[in-house]
Amino acid sequence: MSDLIRIENLIKTYGNVRAVDGISFSIPEGICFGLLGPNGAGKTTTIEMMEGILKPDSGEIYFHGRKIDRHFKQKVGIQFQNTALPEFITVKETLELFQALYPNPRTIEEIIEICSLADIIDRDNRKLSGGQRQRMLLGLAIIPRPEMLFLDEPTTGLDPQARRNFWELIGKIKAENTTILLTTHYMDEAEVLCDQIGIIDQGKLLEIDSPSKLLSSHFDGALVRVPHFGREDLVFSDGSLSGDFLEITTRNLDKTMKELLQSELNLEGLSIKKPNLEDLFLKLTGTSLRS
Ligand SMILES: Nc1ncnc2c1ncn2[C@@H]1O[C@H](COP(=O)(O)OP(=O)(O)OP(=O)(O)O)[C@@H](O)[C@H]1O
Ligand SMILES: [Mg+2]
Repeated sequence: MSDLIRIENLIKTYGNVRAVDGISFSIPEGICFGLLGPNGAGKTTTIEMMEGILKPDSGEIYFHGRKIDRHFKQKVGIQFQNTALPEFITVKETLELFQALYPNPRTIEEIIEICSLADIIDRDNRKLSGGQRQRMLLGLAIIPRPEMLFLDEPTTGLDPQARRNFWELIGKIKAENTTILLTTHYMDEAEVLCDQIGIIDQGKLLEIDSPSKLLSSHFDGALVRVPHFGREDLVFSDGSLSGDFLEITTRNLDKTMKELLQSELNLEGLSIKKPNLEDLFLKLTGTSLRS
């Protein structure tokens, strides 16, 4: 897979805040790349520089191996974190308005199909629910048949069902071989949608890899937790005490469970957890993404 977009040492400073502090990475063609990080980490600033909307203080952005130029914007689709929609016109009229801006726009029928807009196509923009609005904004973003789609927190504030519906739309767009850069605060979303993930904090890239490789390089097996009910004398391999709990990190769950069953420990309250992306975040950024 060749790289579609590559950024080199991007820096953006606001006053004394270094919003993006020397970030470099590349995104291969056809994948969904997730940019994750706590509030204020520099995700929107990074993505807006990549979109060609915001000028970096320094650093370069390459698309198909060439520095981005004024034609670049015709090849990408953008869904901003916050967007004001024209008022007093319908979804269809809004799509038509944006269609007029591009040389080879998708048809209204195509957009209705991909973004499931049939039920709201004649509705006034002001009357859309949060989920309907996001579907419509995705429709606007894909009008130019973009090679690359930028989605900045497209599902924030949606209910669980609406988020899953949105994932389906993303799946359809990805199946057309569109490369996607997405930011999200939802770890389940990143695990479902993203082939690769970049984790940023305080303007710096901390890690970049596939979700499974990130997890396997940071965590070793499963975590078994069981209340020790004061039996602090019991010794387990790879076990340690944490408050009222005995915690065992194990790569051999069968063996650990047998040992526990043979011990005199009351196993009520036992839990087994495989670390997920949420745990990785806490570990890397020291903060929960939704805090
Ligand atoms: N136009 C601006 N003027 C001044 N400071 C800014 C501006 N835009 C962003 N910042 C600052 O830059 C830092 C990074 O902001 P950014 O919006 O990129 O974060 P983010 O990762 O997108 O956060 P969130 O998850 O809350 O959307 C923050 O400290 C923010 O306050
Ligand atoms: Mg943001």
